[in-house]
Amino acid sequence: MDMIKRPRRLRGNEAIRKMVRETRIDKSSLIYPLFVIDGENIEEEIPSMPGQYRFSVDRLPYELERLTKAGVENLMLFGIPAHKDEMGSQAYAENGIVQRALREGKKQFPGLYYITDVCMCEYTSHGHCGVLCGHDVENDATLELLAKTALSHVQAGADMVAPSDMMDGRILALRRCLDGNGFKETPIMSYAVKYASAFYGPFRDAAGSAPSFGDRKSYQMDFHNRKEGMKEALMDVDEGADIIMVKPALSYLDVISEVSKEINLPIAAYSVSGEYAMVKAAAKMGYIDEAKIICEMAVSTYRAGADIYLTYFAKELAGYMAEGR
Ligand code: PBG
Ligand code: ZN
Repeated sequence: MDMIKRPRRLRGNEAIRKMVRETRIDKSSLIYPLFVIDGENIEEEIPSMPGQYRFSVDRLPYELERLTKAGVENLMLFGIPAHKDEMGSQAYAENGIVQRALREGKKQFPGLYYITDVCMCEYTSHGHCGVLCGHDVENDATLELLAKTALSHVQAGADMVAPSDMMDGRILALRRCLDGNGFKETPIMSYAVKYASAFYGPFRDAAGSAPSFGDRKSYQMDFHNRKEGMKEALMDVDEGADIIMVKPALSYLDVISEVSKEINLPIAAYSVSGEYAMVKAAAKMGYIDEAKIICEMAVSTYRAGADIYLTYFAKELAGYMAEGR
């Protein structure tokens, strides 16, 4: 054999493999999604997301303590209100669930970084991400409510807001509203490239936010489309987004890769509830090695180009990352 190139030289032992490793990740890039719910003394496991819970505000500090101990530094809050109506009024209520959770969290754990999901679907009686006109979600009327919601989150202490509704023009609407109210320095992470996906199923069980009729295809993207993802990302850059998110993650690595090459902003990827549920279910059956799968899914997302990773496995991953897995 007259080979001079032997790739296996760089795989001979753990030391050399680690030396030449291309993707190095750090727990400071993790964001943990967390559900808070109206009521008292609630810490209930979400049936379709084993290991994930809904917490009432009084029980929230215990979870924030666990997160801190696990090394998680950033979280994304989702609210589940006791009361839902046509206009999703609890989304922007001063004493809404997210607003109270923020005040409590900020008081007791000021060292954590609080991001809020800004959307209407958890708050509307019909489960759509905006206000309705007949059976259609009205874009421009929804923008006002989203802006109000974002402002109320920031006033309650949110460090960053993340609109997930996929209405046109929402980044500009939020930016104008925040700037006009003295919050020029608060960043917006846009769920810019968000597909209409069956991977959100367990989340909708968790939040009781499935649409009561129809689907979200008139606002979330068709998963057959790649170029459209770039269009959405570029528009949100122009509207002043600070971070661009692609969602879901696992089945959309091509989109993450392309967006991260073209867009000069930090790119976030959201490993959603369905991804989590699949791993949990297969692990429970003994079909896969849960820890190894978690690491491989995470690394592949960063390798594709993500800088930030939202995952329900953030606690576990923070530990695995420290071990260099
Ligand atoms: C709200 C929202 C959803 C998710 C994040 N923000 C649900 C949806 O769009 O139906 C999904 C998160 C997940 O599945 O983990 N619009
Ligand atoms: Zn929504």
